[in-house]
Amino acid sequence: MNRPAMEGLRLNVPAYVQHARLISWVAEIAALTEAAEVCWCDGSDDEYKRLCAQLVKAGTFKKLNPELRPSSYLAWSDPSDVARVEDRTFICSQKKEDAGPTNNWMDPAEMRALLQTGDKALFRGAMRGRTLYVVPFSMGPLGSHIAHIGVELSDSPYVAVNMRTMTRMGRAVLDVLGADGDFVPCVHTVGAPLQPGQKDVAWPCNQTKYIVQYPETREIWSYGSGYGGNALLGKKCFALRIASTMGRGQGWLAEHMLILGVTNPQGRKYHVAAAFPSSCGKTNFSMLVPPQGFEGWKVTTIGDDIAWLKPGADGRLYAINPEAGYFGVAPGTNYKTNPNCMDSLKSDVIFTNVALTDDGDVWWEGMTDTPPAHLIDWQGNDWTPAIAQANAVNGKPRPAAHPNSRFTVAATNNPVLDAEWDNPQGVAIDAFIFGGRRSTTVPLVTEARDWTEGVYMAATMGSETTAAAAGAQGVVRRDPFAMLPFCGYNMSDYFQHWLDMGAKLQTGGAVLPKIYCVNWFRKGADGKFVWPGYGENMRVLQWMLERIEGRGQGDDNAFGISPRYEDLRWDGLPFTREQFASVIGVDGAAWVEELKLHDELFAQLAYHLPTDLSQVKTRIEERLSK
Ligand code: OXD
Ligand code: MN
Repeated sequence: MNRPAMEGLRLNVPAYVQHARLISWVAEIAALTEAAEVCWCDGSDDEYKRLCAQLVKAGTFKKLNPELRPSSYLAWSDPSDVARVEDRTFICSQKKEDAGPTNNWMDPAEMRALLQTGDKALFRGAMRGRTLYVVPFSMGPLGSHIAHIGVELSDSPYVAVNMRTMTRMGRAVLDVLGADGDFVPCVHTVGAPLQPGQKDVAWPCNQTKYIVQYPETREIWSYGSGYGGNALLGKKCFALRIASTMGRGQGWLAEHMLILGVTNPQGRKYHVAAAFPSSCGKTNFSMLVPPQGFEGWKVTTIGDDIAWLKPGADGRLYAINPEAGYFGVAPGTNYKTNPNCMDSLKSDVIFTNVALTDDGDVWWEGMTDTPPAHLIDWQGNDWTPAIAQANAVNGKPRPAAHPNSRFTVAATNNPVLDAEWDNPQGVAIDAFIFGGRRSTTVPLVTEARDWTEGVYMAATMGSETTAAAAGAQGVVRRDPFAMLPFCGYNMSDYFQHWLDMGAKLQTGGAVLPKIYCVNWFRKGADGKFVWPGYGENMRVLQWMLERIEGRGQGDDNAFGISPRYEDLRWDGLPFTREQFASVIGVDGAAWVEELKLHDELFAQLAYHLPTDLSQVKTRIEERLSK
């Protein structure tokens, strides 16, 4: 095969790489970015160890105490690079209306000039002095008909090692790709070229950031950040933004959903996919430990963040988790909230922005009831409870770990990993759950009476904002399908795609998954959460399964069908009828106000908004007025 040679730069193409288009694209990006070297990642253990050692030497990683946390590392990012940057994220479709009002848009030609083609294009020379890592990855089990392949070119070894945990990465992917397979090209730079002799910093990044998706050409270009979804391009950029546009065109769904298996004491197993906005407990729910009174029940994890769903020959929706690891939020995780997650984190973990203990282990807010007496915080400063108090902001002690600090860990570390998690055929989905973080109004659980009503519930979901994205926290924003920052095209077209998928599956005679709306976060007059959440969510899950089996009872309300107190199992949990009433009730006056907010959302999304959704709203209004 003809392998391009570049003046002054060896592409170092391994003999097993047979894909001419891939090789010439790598050559083109290496030339544009003026990378000093090219390294093709094979995904091996040796390579992972070598890159981790290199990151330790560079000061990006600290090796944690091997007795307490074997084969694990801690990275602290630049304080300005700690979360996804939604205001710097762009969908560059040819037409602005195809990106829709919920996405930032720029004309693709203009964006290309800014990033690639202009004289001062940001990617020009951006990798000077750095190595360009070629990271081939499969989103989904290798070779699965539901999976797709991407190749990320990045100048961050931190990205390369994280991608190895988060995806199926390396040589095996190129074997599947063969000589001319399709892949989504993803280009990433931290945007910090090095001059000859210039000393690097531990976390290179740039104050200017662009996270760019071109849906028509299925390309991703990311500039200036080394953090999470900004830089690990398989996750939000590919598996959600680009994949959602692919799914629209090809008749499938790419969703911000966990996938779990739940097996009852009789051995009957169901699969549920659930969408919650960032940092609303998706990882916890996907690893749920059934509470007292639910002996014999088992919950197993297929995925904790993203689901790809394609219709099978039998008309059912089959889901895979496109990822192979968890990039989860650390604060709040402990042996009470998520023991399975804590057990997953015993070894082989990359922690980012958590605190370092004096004995070389990690700590984050909520990990233990009492914090250690001394820590080094995520910015490298001494931290004690007294220092934290002295630096309190709005009465809140200064945290030792950043609120959006993370762990990167392989799914195979999870003690309750589902046996089917890697099944290339996926698992058949029985129910969808949509849940926002709302302190009022939205009931604990409601079943949609039909697919359209379920799409309405998901479309109008709202949530109080969290630390996963930069910006104000605690403000309620509409987050349709928990996809607001992740839908790669016009949100109203996305609603239509969901309605079309339902109609198509139903025409084929399939039983559609039931759709539920949940809200674990209603608060009482004392400002405290009423519902205990975590493992107790099993009670709600069990009611859903009874409904699927046609046994569960419930009452119709304006919004859908909710259980009465006697319809849930309470053994092992002291939870009174009054408490239940306060989390399940549909308050007419609050709902009249809520519907005004739905109006605001629909006004924003008026272009292509499916009329079916307005009709559902009218029906809710009619029920409320009765
Ligand atoms: C995530 C997010 O990181 O949703 O999963 O922000
Ligand atoms: Mn997420």
